[in-house]
Amino acid sequence: MKIIMLGAPGAGKGTQAKKIAARYEVPHISTGDIFRANIKNGTELGQKAKTYMDQGLLVPDELVVDLVVDRVNQEDCASGYVLDGFPRTIPQAEALDKALAELGQKIDYAINVEVPDENIIRRMSGRRACVDCGATYHMEYAPTKVEGTCDNCGGSLILRDDDKPETVEKRLGVYHEQTQPLIKYYTSAGVLREVDGTIDIEDVFSEIVKILGE
Ligand code: AP5
Ligand code: ZN
Repeated sequence: MKIIMLGAPGAGKGTQAKKIAARYEVPHISTGDIFRANIKNGTELGQKAKTYMDQGLLVPDELVVDLVVDRVNQEDCASGYVLDGFPRTIPQAEALDKALAELGQKIDYAINVEVPDENIIRRMSGRRACVDCGATYHMEYAPTKVEGTCDNCGGSLILRDDDKPETVEKRLGVYHEQTQPLIKYYTSAGVLREVDGTIDIEDVFSEIVKILGE
């Protein structure tokens, strides 16, 4: 099962993608996580990506596309995967389709997690990420057992650099301009499915499980 998660920054794509990956035993491929790991490890890719991410801008397509195409070609992706944060522009979607067509494959579902802009800023200001394993929490909606400490690995939690309110506003603008057109793209391809992202995390997941057909 090859799934794309669509939605505004903070809509809950990552939260749901992790749950899908665990339930259906497919890899979770998050381009945001890949960039953050590269930044943490001080790689050249990380240094390049950081200058865009800190401003709330998209990393140029040429730095993203090959990375994802290589990843979906790996053996563990043979039976499927969840793409989270990719594609984010029409050229990225076209490049993905082209690469998949060469393998005789196609995307099965593009799940759009719908959350109005008003809710997004509040979500982002409460989000906390683990510095060590990248797990995501929310101070109000998805709290950790011990405040400030990751449930998975005991690491410390931080507010992401790009989750400051002014950067979130910029990211939302970029989303509407460059990423939202993908909704039409995947509707035309007949694979778009919508879920309400404003309800509880578990309820959103139940909706997704219904779509994926269990
Ligand atoms: P990326 O990491 O992909 O950021 P994003 O798309 O902005 O998405 P987020 O991770 O912010 O949010 P999410 O939708 O995953 O929400 P989450 O589940 O965490 O990318 C970061 C940057 O990298 C980009 O800005 C760009 O610069 C670059 N980049 C990445 N991919 C790229 C690409 N393909 N091309 C170019 N550049 C790229 O949830 C948010 C919070 O809400 C959490 O605290 C969560 O606990 C909480 N929450 C989730 N669901 C619910 C719910 N139902 N109810 C209440 N709270 C909830
Ligand atoms: Zn952790």
